[in-house]
Amino acid sequence: MDLYEYQARDLFEAHGVPVLAGIVAHTPEEAKAAAEQIGGVVVVKAQVKVGGRGKAGGVKLAKNADEAHEHAKAILGMDIKGHTVHRVMIAQGADIAEEYYFSILLDRANRDYLAMCSKEGGVEIEQLAEERPEALARVNFDPNTGIDTAKATEIAEQAGFGAEQVPALADVFQQLWTAFAAEDATLVEVNPLVKTGEGRIIALDGKVTVDENAEFRQPGHSELVDEQAEDPLEAKAKANDLNYVKLDGEVGIIGNGAGLVMSTLDVVAYAGEAHDGVKPANFLDIGGGASAEVMANGLDVILGDDQVKSVFVNVFGGITACDAVANGIVKALEILGDAATKPLVVRLDGNSVEEGRRILREADHPLVTLATSMDEGADKAAELANK
Ligand SMILES: Nc1ncnc2c1ncn2[C@@H]1O[C@H](COP(=O)(O)OP(=O)(O)OP(=O)(O)O)[C@@H](O)[C@H]1O
Ligand SMILES: [Mg+2]
Repeated sequence: MDLYEYQARDLFEAHGVPVLAGIVAHTPEEAKAAAEQIGGVVVVKAQVKVGGRGKAGGVKLAKNADEAHEHAKAILGMDIKGHTVHRVMIAQGADIAEEYYFSILLDRANRDYLAMCSKEGGVEIEQLAEERPEALARVNFDPNTGIDTAKATEIAEQAGFGAEQVPALADVFQQLWTAFAAEDATLVEVNPLVKTGEGRIIALDGKVTVDENAEFRQPGHSELVDEQAEDPLEAKAKANDLNYVKLDGEVGIIGNGAGLVMSTLDVVAYAGEAHDGVKPANFLDIGGGASAEVMANGLDVILGDDQVKSVFVNVFGGITACDAVANGIVKALEILGDAATKPLVVRLDGNSVEEGRRILREADHPLVTLATSMDEGADKAAELANK
């Protein structure tokens, strides 16, 4: 789960990372009150879970509370890369002398943790990494020892900081590591980490991702969930106990068993190459005992995805045999009625496959096409999605 900047700020503060005052506001009036409370120059910052807010006009300096009101009015409701701004953070203005970059992340490729640091922060780090990789220090470290004084010093030195700056930076790196570990984070990124005119090091903009698998020992994290911003399809699937993950594609997928669904995604992605590159639109595992109701719920979620143009139902009859699945599909289409609008390619195999196919043939639903193999079904579904 990605956190908002203001949540990251609060979390940093709780773990002793130096941050400036910040108050979240939902209306221009709240923004004004927050600016009055903080006093002096403030920065009005759009709170969206996407990068590049500054460039999009979502970060604005306000010299006083009235200006904060004005900026909040302009920023609230703004669209930043498809994310609507529902709240802003009023941040205390910093006297910035220099901007740096620092992050800690889970390095899956190396099965390790990685710290990255650069003297050139504030900018887009992906660009820096590509254009001048030497300006970005990368230091892998053992999660069991974490970032201690020696490791923190190594990181700062490798980034090219002089001896006079290393100790203060090393302190902040260790505090950020403490926050990362204590919160079961998979990413902590500070861009920019700034040095103020007085020489203080402050985390000015934080991005934090916490590991949802650690929910059981992080009871506080459930409060950080933003229901308003949750993907409505994923929320609906969750409410129906479905294993659903939204992807970027056009072919809706329903299967039973995680392994079969995963391979269906592969086969559809491959088949899609011959049809203008259409891709699977989701992962959806309806599990072993797929009743008509589960099938209907699954179809309902997938058909609710505007991007979906066709659906591939790929089921292997096991404990729930193919005839039951076929009946499930027929009933699901009945339940959905006019809500079912997109072509369905169905491939059944396994127990009672002949009976299952017979049921679907007899039902003769105009939206349903039967496929005899997984490859054929994937190809047909990709073709239909490309029409
Ligand atoms: N509290 C602050 N005081 C003074 N200047 C600030 C403050 N917060 C941000 N800035 C300035 O605005 C720039 C952009 O801010 P920030 O890094 O928070 O947003 P961003 O990088 O555009 O957004 P994102 O991190 O989503 O890409 C900073 O690099 C900094 O120069
Ligand atoms: Mg930033």
